[in-house]
Amino acid sequence: MKKILLLGSGELGKEFVISAKRLGCHVVACDSYTGAPAMQVADESEVFSMLDAAKLREAVERHQPDLIVPEIEAIRTEVLVEMEKEGRNVVPSARAVNMTMNRDRIRDLAVDLGVRTARFAYAESAEQLMGEAKAIGFPVVIKPVMSSSGKGQSVAQTADDIQNSWEYACAGMRGDRQRVIVEEFIKFDYEITLLTVKQKNGPTLFCDPIGHVQERGDYQYSWQPQPMIDKFRQDAETMAKAVTDDLGGVGIFGVEFFVTKDEVIFSELSPRPHDTGMVTLVSQNLSEFDLHARAILGLPIPNITVTEGASAVVLAAKDGVSPTYTGVEAAMAEPDVDVRIFGKPTTRPYRRMAVVLAKGENAVERARAAAAKIKVVTKGI
Ligand SMILES: Nc1ncnc2c1ncn2[C@@H]1O[C@H](COP(=O)(O)OP(=O)(O)OP(=O)(O)O)[C@@H](O)[C@H]1O
Ligand SMILES: [Mg+2]
Repeated sequence: MKKILLLGSGELGKEFVISAKRLGCHVVACDSYTGAPAMQVADESEVFSMLDAAKLREAVERHQPDLIVPEIEAIRTEVLVEMEKEGRNVVPSARAVNMTMNRDRIRDLAVDLGVRTARFAYAESAEQLMGEAKAIGFPVVIKPVMSSSGKGQSVAQTADDIQNSWEYACAGMRGDRQRVIVEEFIKFDYEITLLTVKQKNGPTLFCDPIGHVQERGDYQYSWQPQPMIDKFRQDAETMAKAVTDDLGGVGIFGVEFFVTKDEVIFSELSPRPHDTGMVTLVSQNLSEFDLHARAILGLPIPNITVTEGASAVVLAAKDGVSPTYTGVEAAMAEPDVDVRIFGKPTTRPYRRMAVVLAKGENAVERARAAAAKIKVVTKGI
């Protein structure tokens, strides 16, 4: 039985634990708060800040896991690099985790590999940001180099927005580097996540593209398959393969692309299951969590099949504790609709609390309609 130390215990971690448990693994779920979703289904849990190097090392040494599986970005990744050198197994690889934690590292790597990206530059002050934004041309997108889920991200339509964008990015950044990436705003037709599975004893596999819609830097609904012309799909797979081969290791990656009428543009990637990929819980024979578990355990993946499916998020409206949910019965009364409630102990505005999954024709409309019926109720604090 393999022992897994899961770093981050959100909803993606919870589904991963379920997949790993089905394959007989023993899972220790870690996060900074008690009662996190993955902890509810794991064998053991640990509460500590994974940004704390000493505590992270201590947890690894105490549990002696066969596999260290990061679920989030906010981890002291230098420790994982050291641990890998000491012979520990970090999923997919310490390099992948370390390189994707910072937008500048992964973007520079993409450029080195000749992968097409939006035009971009970096800035370390409001003045520098103004200069770079003018050089790229408005509108531009501004993101802290270290942040996730759209935190600190904004669009500057004109030079008048730059000061606000800079301050917003500084307020939303993680880590100690005051650095932002400023990017050309891509008017894409649609955007996709290409789930890419690197295997130990087999070729790299690609799931059918997942289309998604984002608001405030967070996904609202996703669907699979997103139709793509063959050439574009090929381009996306070629870029995903180039980047994931360079990052190394085994496991699933969520590779994000923008698709315009002319081309496919690489945006970023996660070296782990992707939130938009929750749709695969209903659309694929093996979900992204099953695929991750199989890949990291070195188990075969003979085929991946897909049927039309969609996911739509249920968000909290305000700060609160001990949430309850209304409308779940109405949502689940619809055929081929399923609801996953994450069991998060507290709420805050826009926090993702549950997801609705739908299968079959018009899955997007049906998932969204069902999700709209569910309301998160809290006492408030
Ligand atoms: N250059 C751009 N042009 C147009 N839209 C963009 C651009 N960059 C980001 N976006 C929009 O913002 C969304 C979020 O951006 P991005 O994926 O870079 O950050 P993130 O989601 O915060 O990161 P993570 O996925 O690690 O949580 C994208 O999915 C896309 O909808
Ligand atoms: Mg993203």
